Amino acid sequence: MRTQVGIIGAGPAGLLLSHLLHLAGIDSVVLEARSRAYIEDRVRAGLLEQGTVDTLAEAGLAERLKRQGLPHTGIELRFDGIGHRIPLTELTDKVVTIYGQQEVVKDLIAARLEAGTHGGHAPILFEVSDVAVHDVDSDAPRISFSHDGVAQVLDCAFIGGCDGFHGICRGAIPDEIIRVYDRIYPFAWLGILSHSKPVAEELIYARHERGFALATMRSETVSRLYLQCAPDENPDAWPDDRIWEELGQRLGCGDDLQRGEIFQKGVTAMRSFVVEPMRHGRLFLAGDAAHIVPPTGAKGMNLAIADIRVLARGLERFFAKGETDLLDRYSEICLRRIWKGQRFSWWMTSMLHRFDGEDAFEHRVQVADLGYVSTSRAAMTTLAENYVGLPYEV
Ligand code: FAD
Ligand code: PHB
Repeated sequence: MRTQVGIIGAGPAGLLLSHLLHLAGIDSVVLEARSRAYIEDRVRAGLLEQGTVDTLAEAGLAERLKRQGLPHTGIELRFDGIGHRIPLTELTDKVVTIYGQQEVVKDLIAARLEAGTHGGHAPILFEVSDVAVHDVDSDAPRISFSHDGVAQVLDCAFIGGCDGFHGICRGAIPDEIIRVYDRIYPFAWLGILSHSKPVAEELIYARHERGFALATMRSETVSRLYLQCAPDENPDAWPDDRIWEELGQRLGCGDDLQRGEIFQKGVTAMRSFVVEPMRHGRLFLAGDAAHIVPPTGAKGMNLAIADIRVLARGLERFFAKGETDLLDRYSEICLRRIWKGQRFSWWMTSMLHRFDGEDAFEHRVQVADLGYVSTSRAAMTTLAENYVGLPYEV
């Protein structure tokens, strides 16, 4: 099989890359290890920066997002039992939008499949196995894989390594070239989805003696709620009543919290991770394959989309005019935004979580940070402009 760009991974990064290339008349194939049902059901991110929404809209992908997405003009920081609103839109003229990542993935898959078969192959192959990349530092890289029990090879001009944190593409960058930055936090998030009215109209990020809590939502009838927990927490140790009681205490809304049926429960590890460079020869890493942030800043999927904007434009320039300038600067351009996203996510995480063994001094500094950011317009603006998304370079 042959294509212009072989893409590994059908998360937001790989699917958007394939769609943008298609709009530019460039052929690609997406190889995905999981089934379509699995990736359309996988519960993850929910908060889209204004730039992410605009990127999806420009690509004709926002019809359902515009109808079902929930625009937000502010968030609340809650500490010492008191809420403080950060008026995002007043400070930045931008909004953020709540729309589940799996909805973005569904919209992208529908758009890719609608475009139909090209060059004698389907746009996405699900449930592939034994994926490996070859000759990435040559002009003719290849991907080998199995599909329906048949071993195959995909010849391509470029490879998009969009296979997430646990993928295989990152491993193709030689040890003597790759530099890894990694920080693991001593806590995780227990996340739930429940059939209950959102706690408030806006998201609440709460710092509490018992640990961090976040109240967000998916719709007017579905809440998404998170609790800081131990990194090796067993979700079975959290019966529904315990979750509601803990949320009530940490969010400071006690018995006012509307309970409902909890229909999804999971634990997410917290990590900051970056590799440099994000390119080796004709292999380009994008999204979680190259970087992970703790979810406190809501940056993960948004950074993945920002990488793809640069990569898609670089590839368009190459196939239209033979120019490599943007591809040559891919890593450098993406990493400038990624490190700002890393800094912001690390800062929000550090300010809002309980750290085991933290002393009284550290506690006071955390509360001072929160006090400053919720009273100084300059500090609030710093938070807001990072939260809604910094301007794109490309
Ligand atoms: P992924 O979505 O991980 O996609 C990679 C794909 O590659 C997967 O489908 C995987 O099955 C496939 N794959 C892996 N290995 C192979 C292989 N060998 N062969 C073929 N396919 C393979 N981000 C935000 O922006 N906002 C938020 O509010 C937010 N909240 C979050 C909350 C939680 C609880 C979590 C866990 C994450 C959150 N994130 C958030 C982060 C966001 O979900 C990720 O950053 C995003 O999924 C990255 O997209 P991606 O396409 O790079 O990778
Ligand atoms: C979510 O809606 O799932 C969400 C929102 C904001 C975050 C993290 C997750 O910081």
